[in-house]
Amino acid sequence: MPILEVDALGKTYYPKKEGLSYKALTNFHLQMDKGEFIGVMGPSGSGKTTLLNLLATIDAPTYGKMAINGTDPTILNDNELAIFRRRQLGFVFQDFNLLDTLTVRENILLPLALDKYPHRKMNTRLDEIAEQLGITDILEKRITEISGGQQQRTACARAIIHDPTMILADEPTGNLDSKSARQVMDTLTTINDEQGATILTVTHDPTVASYCDRIVFIKDGRFFSEIRKGDRQQTFYQNILDTLSVLGGDFNEHSSPRT
Ligand SMILES: Nc1ncnc2c1ncn2[C@@H]1O[C@H](COP(=O)(O)OP(=O)(O)OP(=O)(O)O)[C@@H](O)[C@H]1O
Ligand SMILES: [Mg+2]
Repeated sequence: MPILEVDALGKTYYPKKEGLSYKALTNFHLQMDKGEFIGVMGPSGSGKTTLLNLLATIDAPTYGKMAINGTDPTILNDNELAIFRRRQLGFVFQDFNLLDTLTVRENILLPLALDKYPHRKMNTRLDEIAEQLGITDILEKRITEISGGQQQRTACARAIIHDPTMILADEPTGNLDSKSARQVMDTLTTINDEQGATILTVTHDPTVASYCDRIVFIKDGRFFSEIRKGDRQQTFYQNILDTLSVLGGDFNEHSSPRT
């Protein structure tokens, strides 16, 4: 059974006052297997964040069906939804979303603490993840004392600590220089390979996208095409560039500062 099933999903935004409604996502299908690492690409305004917000259960679809690990989140009440989101999903945001006054360790443990996980088990799990992601040395530092790349790797650790069904990321490297961006993608790849995490990330950046197993392209709120990584990351990268040029549209508006 796929981990994620999206069936003819659609989202139309209706303005609060009078004005035109906007079809941001139309008849969208997607299946994702356990352990897959998918990138979503498309021009600015094509519906990537809209799709991610539906998958994240932050926003409800206008029509269509979806199931995450066999559960349709749209039938849950607010309380059930909060628990579902906390247990089944992990998030990595463009602007990290860490709590500055807490240490790296405290930030990572937060999702487990909310679910009253036993203390010993929490720390064993943390040590394992920190070791894998190479952040053992910074665990006791505060967020204000570490670099942007380290902050995002901390956010990646927080996203996997509770072993969620799926990790969702919207432009996780958008605020990083190219070296830190590569380190964050290495981190997500490690989580994918060694923790068996299922990851879906939105990105504008073809280099970042070339770390994924499969890229799904969206245009004007509709599925456009998809490509899979073969044996060589370089060939995949070239295929991504070729598809982007066919796709057209603006890809640079939100792209990250590069040094
Ligand atoms: N709350 C909203 N109300 C009305 N329209 C919206 C709303 N959110 C998004 N839209 C519109 O829906 C379309 C898709 O937006 P979305 O944020 O999903 O694009 P995106 O692909 O993530 O773009 P970007 O690459 O710039 O982040 C855009 O035209 C946007 O203006
Ligand atoms: Mg977006």
